[in-house]
Amino acid sequence: MNKVTKRVAILTSGGDAPGMNAAIRAFVIAATKQNFECVGYTHGYNGLINQESIILTKSHAQDIIHLGGTILKSARCAEMKSLTGLKQAVNTLVKDKIDALVVIGGDGSFKGLTAIKKHWSGQIIGIPGTIDNDLALTDSTIGFDTATDTAINAIDKIRDTANAFDRVFVVELMGRHSGHLTFNVGLAVGAECIISFENCPSEKQAIFLQELITDIVIKKADTSSSYLICVAENLWNGGTTVLIESLKQANIDSALCILGHIQRGGNPTANDRLLANKMAIAALDLLLTGQTMKMVSIQNNEIVGVDIIAALTQKKPTNAKTIEQYQLLKV
Ligand code: F6P
Repeated sequence: MNKVTKRVAILTSGGDAPGMNAAIRAFVIAATKQNFECVGYTHGYNGLINQESIILTKSHAQDIIHLGGTILKSARCAEMKSLTGLKQAVNTLVKDKIDALVVIGGDGSFKGLTAIKKHWSGQIIGIPGTIDNDLALTDSTIGFDTATDTAINAIDKIRDTANAFDRVFVVELMGRHSGHLTFNVGLAVGAECIISFENCPSEKQAIFLQELITDIVIKKADTSSSYLICVAENLWNGGTTVLIESLKQANIDSALCILGHIQRGGNPTANDRLLANKMAIAALDLLLTGQTMKMVSIQNNEIVGVDIIAALTQKKPTNAKTIEQYQLLKV
């Protein structure tokens, strides 16, 4: 029998993203071939703190590539922000004789890795998995493509009913504090208006609202049709319910749809499955070449390893070309 050379811990943390299972699957299969033992901690960092783990074998990796969510479960873990919680997590890694830790998640999860690094000498690798696509130094994150598609499918249906009533619809999209989903989805559904962090800062919302109302009135006088407004969550002062109230007060027949967590679920798209495969293999390569504190990243179609701290310290606003496209195609 082949000798087990290393014990690698893997966990998923923060908001789950479609494609996380595909990444777990690819990592477990590829790492097992290298005689690594994969230890999966459940419920994000809570699994480390509470010592909840399972040995992941090829059988766990079977038939999960197409599933949304994460077989390892996920969570946001407030305890990791305290020294006590952090030390408990590190103690588990030491006690379980873990040589390397791979975390699939977003920026909050990677902050956890930088904290662990201060108290633990094992190898640390991050795989970006979040529907928000808000991690710098990678063109895309696992889950973003699926969430974009899911939102598009939902909004296409909203367009049908909006057309039937010649109605204005405000659709709120996820993204936490980033506009990647909102802009990309807005462009793909041909939204008449996109409201996001990049084009509508908080202090300009009153002017923006006036311009929006004028635009709706002009367009509706010109033609009877629907009018779709895609808005990023956490953006509008007081929330999208305030925005819809303002439209109603201006006698605009409008309805609100908050897409919410539907954007996080569902089967991953081909792009997300393939990205997950590539990123998981790259994570293993980084481990095999002795690297640490690296995030796997895709840049111009090439998979590379970048510094986790560099990724965390930079911002990734929506691409200027995407915003320009919106301006060019605005009807
Ligand atoms: O980070 C993913 C995400 O879905 C964000 O888009 C959203 O703001 C947040 O998570 C919602 O988090 P929770 O599911 O904890 O409410």
